[in-house]
This record gives sequence, structure tokens and C-alpha cells, in this order.
Amino acid sequence: MSKRKILVTSALPYANGPIHLGHLVEYIQTDIWVRFQKQRGNNCIYVCADDTHGTPIMLRADNEGISPDQLIAQVEQEHRADFNDFDVLFDNYHSTHSEENKDLSELIYTRLRDADHISKRTITQAFDPVKNMFLPDRFITGDCPKCAAKGQYGDNCEACGATYSPTELKNAVSVVSGEKPIEKDSEHYFFNLADFTDMLKDWTTAAGHLQPEVKNKMAEWLENGLQQWDISRDAPYFGFEIPDAPGKYFYVWMDAPVGYMASFKNFCKKQNLDFDAFWGQDSDVELYHFIGKDIIYFHALFWPAMLSGAGFRTPSAVFAHGFLTVNGEKMSKSRGTFIKARTYLEHLNPEYLRYYFAAKLTNSIDDLDLNFDDFSQRVNSDLVGKVVNIASRCSGFIKKRFAGKLSASCAEPELFQQFIDANKPIAELYENREFGKAMREIMALADKANQYIEDKKPWLIAKEEGKDAELHAICSMGINCFRLLVAYLKPVIPVLAKNAESFLNIEPQVWPADAQPLLDHAINKFKPLMTRVETDKIDAIVKASKDNLQKTEAPKAKLFDPIANTIEFDDFAKIDLRIAKIIKAEQIEGAEKLLQLTLDIGDETRNILAGIKSAYAAEELEGKLTVVVANLKPRKMRFGLSEGMILAAGPGGKDLWLLSPDQGAQAGMRVK
Ligand code: MSP
Ligand code: ZN
Repeated sequence: MSKRKILVTSALPYANGPIHLGHLVEYIQTDIWVRFQKQRGNNCIYVCADDTHGTPIMLRADNEGISPDQLIAQVEQEHRADFNDFDVLFDNYHSTHSEENKDLSELIYTRLRDADHISKRTITQAFDPVKNMFLPDRFITGDCPKCAAKGQYGDNCEACGATYSPTELKNAVSVVSGEKPIEKDSEHYFFNLADFTDMLKDWTTAAGHLQPEVKNKMAEWLENGLQQWDISRDAPYFGFEIPDAPGKYFYVWMDAPVGYMASFKNFCKKQNLDFDAFWGQDSDVELYHFIGKDIIYFHALFWPAMLSGAGFRTPSAVFAHGFLTVNGEKMSKSRGTFIKARTYLEHLNPEYLRYYFAAKLTNSIDDLDLNFDDFSQRVNSDLVGKVVNIASRCSGFIKKRFAGKLSASCAEPELFQQFIDANKPIAELYENREFGKAMREIMALADKANQYIEDKKPWLIAKEEGKDAELHAICSMGINCFRLLVAYLKPVIPVLAKNAESFLNIEPQVWPADAQPLLDHAINKFKPLMTRVETDKIDAIVKASKDNLQKTEAPKAKLFDPIANTIEFDDFAKIDLRIAKIIKAEQIEGAEKLLQLTLDIGDETRNILAGIKSAYAAEELEGKLTVVVANLKPRKMRFGLSEGMILAAGPGGKDLWLLSPDQGAQAGMRVK
């Protein structure tokens, strides 16, 4: 079989928030498929990137008092760590805010423009007169014009389902400033999608490009006629400026899919690959985009049209999946089921979730449910109870009775052959993204292996005299079955597979199409490969997800210590603060931090030891006015008696600033 050349992408996650379990459906699905292809020996490359542009990212950076560049750098670190810890293994992870993406976006745009697929027209939009920016629909709220429900977004009403334009909202306000939006004209750039109607009719209906249900949906959309697509946004916007159009930026969805190419281009540089061999019009490479069902329109219409209009190849297929629900309901922050990847990782083994998703995934766009009871039950009974159990049942005897070596012949060649033959149907299911069915095939094999052991009862044979050879053969057979089960599960649970390989003392397993049994082969000591799901951990995740919510809704992180508890005026009045003149400031021998100050506080002088040496030189202090706590009980210190305390602000070290009164204040005056 010749190696296939395959380029795979997952949708680029937005850089305005953390990865959550919903996202992971997609990245885990794609990763399993890619790992499967690699294990089969195909040349499969998996690229992705952060999707970094747009108004929400600009505004969030603004809110946090950092630049968008800083924000997207931070988020990229978090995303990378989350993917890494879930063993989602990209060949390249990049950013849409990159040179490659800028160049390619400009190239595609100018080619479309030069071929007359771009037009300009003035439109009227809601505008925030305080923030001086146009407002996307999601940044306007008000009362629904149909049912008067309060707090609805600018595009549709969640209460009655009505759709409308933001200008129809009653009592509309800008989410950004709280101000009433005004209407304003501006020139926008449009992509003439309708120019590609025929091309898209062919592309969407050609065999293999789209799932049947997606194909039907596209036919409906094509039937209704394709609209021009607004691809420009006005400054201020975080994105790429459109060539020859100052103040106009590419709408985030224009440069986002180009990010697939950009990430790959970046990979080409590192690997010395030929970009055009993958993206050129007559490329023979397979190109697949894994996406969620919410972004089909962009991938099945805009994207193929853009590519074809700009002289690039189109995708071999777009694979859409459904949405994740938790315990049968939409993920919800208040129920604690809007679970961040990181929160999950703090409590549970990522391979539990990888296996569970695999067990639930089909190749349709149906939603899939994460049910907590089902989750622990499925993982415990399948992975721990069926698969790992085989190894733990058999390895003890091999170690204790046969010096860690498997038998020299295969006890049940037929059973072994059944395990090998299963590689074809299992591979076909993986290939067609029917992971749930693949898991069922694999578990059916695991049942067979367990049944075999159950029938042979090695634990009884072990007690009988003269049955060593039989015991050896049975346990070795069990280990050989286990090894093939792990080979089949490897795309789903790569870490367990790797640990099993070191237990089995074998090379990384390729797809076992013609594997031979391990005979006369030394294995290593068995270590538990996976423990059972502890359900209290799930409760902890839900609880932490509710806590997260409180944290995110609390005001921004504080820069300074919280304000102390309220006190009565009388409490304050007890503190006698006086203006003091520093008449002398001297170093103290042996003191690292202290200066010795002599203060004039009107009717008396005071000696004070002040910890300000790191911030002030003695000479620069003499003659200065400052404030002193005059009635603080004198304190005996190592270098002498300190009769009061001067006031300073700052964290310490060089960063300390003495208080000083405005001009005119005199030593001895009370501060109140
Ligand atoms: N940035 C765009 C994609 C640009 S691709 C050129 C985007 N980002 S996203 O962060 O909102 O979503 C990334 C992917 O995760 C999308 O494919 C989306 O469908 C998927 N999912 C987000 N939430 C999901 C669930 N709750 N369930 C399943 N998939 C989900 O869209
Ligand atoms: Zn309504």
C-alpha cells in the first residue's frame, strides 16, 4: 500500500477565551484520526493556530489594560498547554496574527479583487459615539422589538426567537460604553459569493466533499441565492489592514481560514516542504478540515469559493461534528458544566475523556452528550475492567512462574488470527470517523480475550501440579491479546499505549495488519496502567467550574492590597500625625536597611530609625518635610530606640516614596 499524503486541520480556536470540553470534542476527534493515519504509515500532517483577530479580542485586551498582542500571546500559551496536556499533537501550531497569514490573506484578497470578485458599497451601522467604533450585533443590547424581552442582543431575541437588525432594538445601549448607539455610514468591501454559485453547486454535491446532511443544508442555501459577504471592518479593529484601503480591515472570518494555509506555510519553512505541492491547484494531497456544525457556512461555501477564486486547490472534504451537551443539557456556567480543559486536567486523567469521546463519536453532525454517570461507568468497565485487566491477570504468573518470559508457541492461533483479522473493519471505522463503532469492535475483542481467560481459569491451573506449560500458554495468549487491543486503541489513548509498550518491552506499535504473536519474549514488570475514575473528582470539577464562574464575574484582578475594614472616626483620631522636618539623616554602622533620622516635630525633636535606606541616600533627606506618627509607642531596636514612624508608600526596596506635605506646612502641625 502506498503512503497517502494528507493535510488535516481543526478549526482555529478563538483567542478570546480558554479551551473547554466542547472544543475538545473537535481537537480530540481530529487528533485520533491523525494518530490513526500516522500509525497506518501514512504521511499525515496536522496543523492548527489561534484565531486572534476581531472586536471581542480588541475589547478584552482593552479591558485588561494590555495590548491585543499581549493578550493573544498569553492565550496562545494557555491553549498550547491545554492541547499538549490532552495529548492533542499538532505538527504545527501557529497564529493568524503572523507574517505568513498577512501575506497569504493579502494575496488571496488581491487575486479575488483583480478578478472582479470584490465590490464596495456604503452601509449604515450602529456606532458607539463614545468609543468611536462600529458595534457588532453582539455588542448592542436592548429590548426585543417583538416581545419586549429585556437585555436581548442586536441580532435576535432569545426569548421569542425573533430576528431583526440592531437598529430595531428598543432602548438599545452599547455594551462597550453603555451609551445609546447612533447610526453611521461607512464604505464596506464585499466578496461576491454569487459569482461562485455554479462552482459551489458542483463542489458541494461532488462525492465525498460533505456529509449527506450537510450537503442537503448547502443545497437549501444555494437554492435561496447567495448573498454578498461583507469582508471589511472599520478601524479601530484588531486585524490586518486591507491593501490600498486605509482604515479598513479584513473581517476576522476572512483571514481565519487562511490561517490553515499560514500555519502550514510556517511548517514548510521549518521542514523544508513545498507549499505549492499541498495548496496548488493540481495538488494530489488530501486536505481535510474538521469543524463544528456552527461554522459549516464558512467552510463549505466561503472557503472553497475563496480558494478557487484565488487559484488554489479546494478541500478534499469538510468533516463537521455536532455539539457537546453535558448531562443532556447545553453546557452551563451556573450548573458548573461549562468545564475548562484546565479544570478537568486538574482532577482527571485526560485519556478518560479521550476514550469517552471516542466511544460517543460518529461521523454525523448529531450532538453528543457527556453524561457523568455513563462516563465513569464506561471508562471503568471498558478500559480498566476489560483491557487493562487482561494484562494484570496474566502478567503476575508470567513474572512469578516463568521468569517474565512468554511461551515459545501460541496457544490459540485461531483466536490470535481473529484479533489480527479485526484490523480491517476497525481501520475502516477509524477511517470513516465512526469511532464509537470502532470502540465497540475493540471491546468485543476484549470480551473475547476475557472470555478465554475465564474459560481457562489460569488461577485454578496455577494450583495444580504439572500444569506449568498450560498455565504459561494461557497467560502468554492473554498478553498477546492485550497487546493487539492496545495497538487498536493507540490513536485514542496514546499514553496508556506507550506505557503498555514499555511493559510489553516492544517497539512502538504500528497498525497490526500482519503482526506475529510475541513468542519467547521477555516482558517487564506490570505497573497499573490506568486506575478507575473516582466520581468525587467529577463533583470537584463541577464545583470548581462554579467557583471559576464567581471568579470571572468578580471585578478585575486587584493591583493593590484590599482596602482594610472600616473603622470609626475615633479610631483614626487616636493616631497623632505630625509634620516633621528631617534635620539630620545618618547611616548606621552595620545596618543594611535603616537610616537614623533626627526630626523636628515642632515642640520636640525625635530620633527615628527608618527602613528607607534602599530608596534614599541620607544626604538627599536633610531639610525635607514629611509626616510622622508621633504617638507611636517608642520601640527598642537593635540599633537604638525609635520614637515614632515616618510614612511612606510603595512595595519596598527602591520603590519607596516618603510622604511630603504641600508647601507652607510647618514642622509640628497636626495632620488630620
Ligand atoms: N475561530 C473560529 C474558527 C475559525 S476556523 C478558520 C471558531 N472558534 S471557536 O473557538 O469558537 O470554536 C473552535 C471549534 O470548536 C469550532 O469548530 C467549534 O464548532 C468547536 N466548538 C466550540 N464549542 C463546541 C461545543 N460545545 N461542542 C462541540 N464543538 C464546539 O469557531
Ligand atoms: Zn422577543
